[in-house]
Amino acid sequence: MILQLSYISTARPTLILADVENILAASRRRNQADAITGLLVFDGKRFLQVLEGDEAKVEQTYQRIAADERHRAIVRLSERRIAAAEFGHWAMASHIVGPVLGDGNVVAQVDAMTADLPDANLRETLRGFARVRGG
Ligand SMILES: Cc1cc2nc3c(=O)[nH]c(=O)nc-3n(C[C@H](O)[C@H](O)[C@H](O)COP(=O)(O)O)c2cc1C
Repeated sequence: MILQLSYISTARPTLILADVENILAASRRRNQADAITGLLVFDGKRFLQVLEGDEAKVEQTYQRIAADERHRAIVRLSERRIAAAEFGHWAMASHIVGPVLGDGNVVAQVDAMTADLPDANLRETLRGFARVRGG
C-alpha cells in the first residue's frame, strides 16, 4: 500500500524565489531517491503539497518538511492508503514533484493536473486551494 498525504502551510514572509527553487531542487533529489511522487503548489504565499510513496518514507519526509523553518502553520489535510500512486504519471523523466510556481495561472494549472485524479475529495481540495489562494 502507498501512503498519500497532503498538507497546507504558510511561507515565511522572508521567503524569496531562490528559496523556492532550493526547496524544489532538494525535493526532486530526495523524493527521487525515496521513490516519492506528488505535487507542490505555491501561490506566492502558501504551499499545498501531496506526497505519496512508501509509508515510512513519506512519514520521514513529512517530518523533515514539518521541521523546515521556511514555512509555518502546517496543517495536514488528508491521509489515504492507496494501491497505486496517483501522481506518478506527472513526473516527466522521473518520479519527482511536479512544481507549479505562483505565476498567476494557478487555477488553470491545478485544474489540468487534477483532471485524472480518481479521488474526488482530494481533487476538490486541490482545486479549492487553487481557487481561494490563487484565483
Ligand atoms: C514547502 C516545502 C516543501 C518541501 N518538500 C519536500 C519534499 O517533497 N521532499 C523533501 O525531501 N524535502 C522537501 N522539503 C525540504 C525539507 O524540508 C528539507 O529541507 C530537505 O528534505 C532536507 O534535505 P537535505 O537533508 O538533503 O538538505 C520541503 C520544504 C518546504 C518548505
